[in-house]
Amino acid sequence: MEEIKTHSSMLLPRGRWESYRALHMFHRQSCQYDYFCKNFELHENLVSEEEENSLLEEVEDYLEDLDYEYDHWDNAIHGYRETEKSQWSVKSQAVLRRIRQVAFSSGEQQLSLVHVLDLAQDGYIKPHVDSVKFCGSTITGVSLLSTAIMRLAKQNNPEHWVNVVLKPRSLYVIRDVVRYQFTHEILKDSESSFRGQRLPRARRISIICRNEPS
Ligand code: OGA
Ligand code: MN
Repeated sequence: MEEIKTHSSMLLPRGRWESYRALHMFHRQSCQYDYFCKNFELHENLVSEEEENSLLEEVEDYLEDLDYEYDHWDNAIHGYRETEKSQWSVKSQAVLRRIRQVAFSSGEQQLSLVHVLDLAQDGYIKPHVDSVKFCGSTITGVSLLSTAIMRLAKQNNPEHWVNVVLKPRSLYVIRDVVRYQFTHEILKDSESSFRGQRLPRARRISIICRNEPS
């Protein structure tokens, strides 16, 4: 397994590289590091524990009546239930506003429905690219409940991948070239390790906002 050791000072000030490395693991990626960093963002602790709890309470009301879906072999997602939500409590609206402010520029046409995806402990998301018919150039999601590993891989060369540790209450933003030219996936619990260290994955809920296709 190769890992790049160069480029760090180009984009990240001294000291920031170590914390970046703690959450991003590049595999044969040296030539793409530069544009990956510019088009994939991770914001830790974007949501407080209190906000996480109130978001969870609110989405559980919708999710608890649904069964987890497993049986569609051609689906990208296994072991999941989901909803698209338009009405939110005042508290959650404030969090969603913060998410949208981080990910989108003002005036950008955004999808008003928020996608809530609940992955069971044994659920996972296979490599895919979100449909360009339904989603524009930016996808952003906050992770709740469990740490998970998102892998982003070059579509035309899947050997070039990056593993990213998504901690609970962190927000990722996937933009432009990374959104269109990389697949993204959420690893199964059994594959969930980072730099040789096992990172068990439990049930995880993501709250995802997207912009409109142009
Ligand atoms: C999706 C997806 C990622 C996530 O629903 O298309 O990639 O963070 N979700 O749950
Ligand atoms: Mn997706």
